[in-house]
Formats: sequence, C-alpha cells, structure tokens
Amino acid sequence: MVDQFIITIDGTSSTGKSTIAKRIAKKLGYIYIDSGAMYRALTYYCIKKKIISKSFFNKNVLINHLPSIKIDFIKNPNSNNLEVNLNGEFIESKIRTLEVSDLVSELAKFDDVRKYMVEIQHSLGNKKGVVMDGRDIGTVVFPNAEYKFFLEASSKLRAKRRYDELVIKNKEISFNEVFENIISRDKLDTNRSNSPLRKASDAILIDTENLNLDQVESKIMDYINFSNSNS
Ligand code: DC
Repeated sequence: MVDQFIITIDGTSSTGKSTIAKRIAKKLGYIYIDSGAMYRALTYYCIKKKIISKSFFNKNVLINHLPSIKIDFIKNPNSNNLEVNLNGEFIESKIRTLEVSDLVSELAKFDDVRKYMVEIQHSLGNKKGVVMDGRDIGTVVFPNAEYKFFLEASSKLRAKRRYDELVIKNKEISFNEVFENIISRDKLDTNRSNSPLRKASDAILIDTENLNLDQVESKIMDYINFSNSNS
C-alpha cells in the first residue's frame, strides 16, 4: 500500500489556506479537515447559548457544556463534501459571519477549548491521509507531520480577498470592518500564550502575495512530489 501522510497548512486568516488545503486533499485522495471551522462551530454554539458575546465570556458554563458538544466532519449529502457538523447539524453556512469571526479568536485562546479541539483533531488525523489547515497544526497538533506549509500575505491583500468573498455572498459589510477583523484576529492568534500562531521551524514558507491559487497549489504539489521521489 502507498504510504499516506499528514500534511499541515498553517498561516494567518485569509491567506487561502482552506482553498489550497481542499485542492491538495482532492489531488491526493486525502480527507481535508478545516480546523478553523471547528473553532467557528464552537463559537456559533456559544453565541446561540449566550455563553459568549462582545461583553462577556462565561468560561465555567462552557466547561460544563463541552463534554456534551459533538464536533465532527461528516459527508453532507447535499454538497457531497465532508463538512463540519455540530451535534448532528451541518452548520457550514452559518459560521462565516462577522459575528462569529469577531468572537472566535477570544474563544480560541481558552486552554480547555484548545485541549478539546486537539483531541478531536488527533482522532481525525491519526489514520493519516489527511490535509489539515489552521494556526497550530504543524507546531502543536501534528508536530511530526510529514509535510508542513505556512502561508502568508499582507493584511491589506488578505482583507481584500476576504471582502471580495463576502460581497459575492451578498453579505452587507464594509472593507474596513473586514480589515479590522483580520488585524485583530492576527493579534489575538499570534499573541495568545497557548499554541500561538507561528511557523514551525521545519515548515515551508510560501508568500502568496503575488501568487494565484494555481501557483500556490503547484508549489506545494511540486514540493511533495519532489520529496517523495527522493525518499
Ligand atoms: O481558519 P479560520 O480563519 O476559519 O479560523 C478561525 C479562528 O479560529 C482563527 O482566527 C483562530 C482560530 N483557530 C485556532 O486558534 N487554531 C486553529 N488551528 C484554527 C483556527
């Protein structure tokens, strides 16, 4: 049987990680796990249960709820894609709002939340044949992954990409709101004490500023194919 690998793709918000990770997984016949969607799913849950808002975060209530919250990736019969599932509900379409984006990094700083997520991520990735993207996948979740990539681009360009995506989906939003959200999440994700966003020392850095998605995909696939042919 051909060896299967764990491939990690980390980086700041809106560097194209998830689109690229999805493409690489498809090319290799691997599963794609969007770890950001897991944090977003939990944030969505906490908003609905009034556990978190801009003015409060009731950590003790969340600790009591965590054992009964089930976050998984299941094939959605409507889209035919593996999608994040929260307690039996497909919620992909509800977790990309600015309300969730504004609170997710605050929730992701919390130790109990990170521990809960890493356990699920290990159970999803341990069978190998997985591409997982996020912030700490190459550093904390799978430090021994066979292939690690780290994507970056300027905050202006990332905000523009995200803004264009949201406008296409008819979301009423200003460029400045998106830009500020990106800056504030970068700050929270990079400066938190538990599993901060950083490039693993052995990750390949890809600056996507002047590259389109096809070029980023080619760089990653070339690297994987080259390493494979030399091993
Ligand atoms: O990838 P994303 O932008 O959908 O992720 C949303 C947030 O979730 C991100 O701002 C920080 C958090 N996150 C994290 O802390 N660790 C991960 N592995 C993935 C996401």
